[in-house]
Amino acid sequence: MVTVRAPATSANLGSGFDVFGAALSRPADVVTVEKAAETTIEVTGVGAQYIPEDPEKNTVGAVVEALDAPARIHIDKGVRPASGLGSSAASAAGAAVALNRLYDRGLSRSELVPIAAEGEAVVSGVAHSDNVAPSILGGFTVTTTEETHSVDAAIPIVVCLPDVAVSTRDARRVVPETASMDALVETVGNAATLAVGMCRSDPDLVGAGMNDPIVTPERARLITGYDDVRRAAFDAGAAGVTVSGAGPAIISVCRDGDRRGVAAAMLDAFADAGIDARAYQTRIGQGSVVLDE
Ligand code: HSE
Repeated sequence: MVTVRAPATSANLGSGFDVFGAALSRPADVVTVEKAAETTIEVTGVGAQYIPEDPEKNTVGAVVEALDAPARIHIDKGVRPASGLGSSAASAAGAAVALNRLYDRGLSRSELVPIAAEGEAVVSGVAHSDNVAPSILGGFTVTTTEETHSVDAAIPIVVCLPDVAVSTRDARRVVPETASMDALVETVGNAATLAVGMCRSDPDLVGAGMNDPIVTPERARLITGYDDVRRAAFDAGAAGVTVSGAGPAIISVCRDGDRRGVAAAMLDAFADAGIDARAYQTRIGQGSVVLDE
């Protein structure tokens, strides 16, 4: 039996649409696998009632296929589905790391990224690696179609998750098909600034580089209260604020000591908009960890 803790993640970080990702120290899924002749999946935890246990429909089924690793699988969800926090990616990442170990497949962490991404595709419709890469590798990740790079970054984070669901499929429908050259130049500049900030563990640079004039404004419209929550986070000291992944979670990059006030301000702003929410005071953290074997 092998048990793996796979962290929640935040993709895009504004300017890095479908490229940037970051592992969060909390929340996380815990995936336990045990060899079996036939694959079965049991799901418990946050939002478990919305997650299919049929291996054909669960994110983990494709990972089992790719690794030829039938197993009895238990997924304890800490990452709510349809949150913008890489819920399906965490389960896929945890299963990939656990099954690789259970069956001694000998694949490296980097080699497991495209395998877990196939699992992601089952539920989100797209095999993007920007959530599975940080959930497996940890830190801040840059993923292209060819490869993934990761760096450790010590950055305090608050993610505020409203009690509404936004599916990745719906959030991808509002992504513009074209963008102006001005908007692209601005986005490249911001993305480069953010990447330098991550390498330096500098929340101010990361925050300065999060602005994205192309995708985020369209997605923000799907999140009731977004503008007020964003403003409240900045007023409480956040260095940068944007939609987490496909939403509806909103991510704030903070300086040391500011997370508590930022979390309270974001929750109050959602409450004023009539929306229940919960806030995670977290930070960029490690990838999947084997807890037990
Ligand atoms: N980059 C993806 C998106 C993350 O924002 O749609 C979800 O897979």
